[in-house]
Amino acid sequence: MSTAQASVGVIVVAAGSGTRLGYGLPKAQVPLAGETILAHALRGVVESGVAARICVAVPAGDTALRQVCAGFAAQHPEVDISTVDGGASRAASVAAALRGLGEGATRVLVHDAARALTPPEVFQRVADALAAGARAVVPAVAVVDTIKTATPSTGAEADIAPEKVAATVDRVQLRAVQTPQGFDAAALAQAHQSLAGLAPAEADGITDEALLMERSGIDVMLVPGSAQALKITTQLDLAVAEALLAARQPNTMEG
Ligand code: C5P
Repeated sequence: MSTAQASVGVIVVAAGSGTRLGYGLPKAQVPLAGETILAHALRGVVESGVAARICVAVPAGDTALRQVCAGFAAQHPEVDISTVDGGASRAASVAAALRGLGEGATRVLVHDAARALTPPEVFQRVADALAAGARAVVPAVAVVDTIKTATPSTGAEADIAPEKVAATVDRVQLRAVQTPQGFDAAALAQAHQSLAGLAPAEADGITDEALLMERSGIDVMLVPGSAQALKITTQLDLAVAEALLAARQPNTMEG
């Protein structure tokens, strides 16, 4: 059982551009069932009750998402909700929000606003594993597709197709990882310090924090994720998210 803990902070990264959604808006501002993607994400964090403080990284200069956060802060005085300007990469946004959380949190959960419908239970599973002694925890689901690696075609084959199969990966071992990812705060801060001065192209390659822990030799524990924690990236994802929300409404089946 999880309870709100003063020692747990949650970072929500919401500073992405959302270019692939094609709305001409930062992704976290895109409407989903009448609210912003960020509002849905924040609701999941707050309802999970795992943290006493939340820091949200928003696009630099953004005011609309800051207002969403201020609205949540007014409704939930029990949680300290702050905002910071995000950076050019996801890793830079996480680093900015880590500074924004300030001292005092000994465990930190990092969550993508784009995984707006992550059920509160997933936050609780991650927080529980940290409380039980894990230094790094990620939610994961099994991979149902058959995954193959590709290599460029050469010679006459290139006229047929640009790539061909190199190998088939053993699916049994594969896991698709989600957020929130939970960490010992000192280990996360140390990993981010080691990124200072990284070239932008290299920073773009840091697609999650667990990668940094793996590089540091810290065991990353897996807890069950959720199909509902899909990352909203394309128009199709947005349509799926709308359908999931409609199915959550208790009166949907009653006409
Ligand atoms: O771009 P991608 O979908 O991988 O982004 C994952 C999460 O990281 C999103 O919630 C996005 O808002 C956030 N992000 C960020 N700052 C960036 C890039 C992405 O906060 N510069």
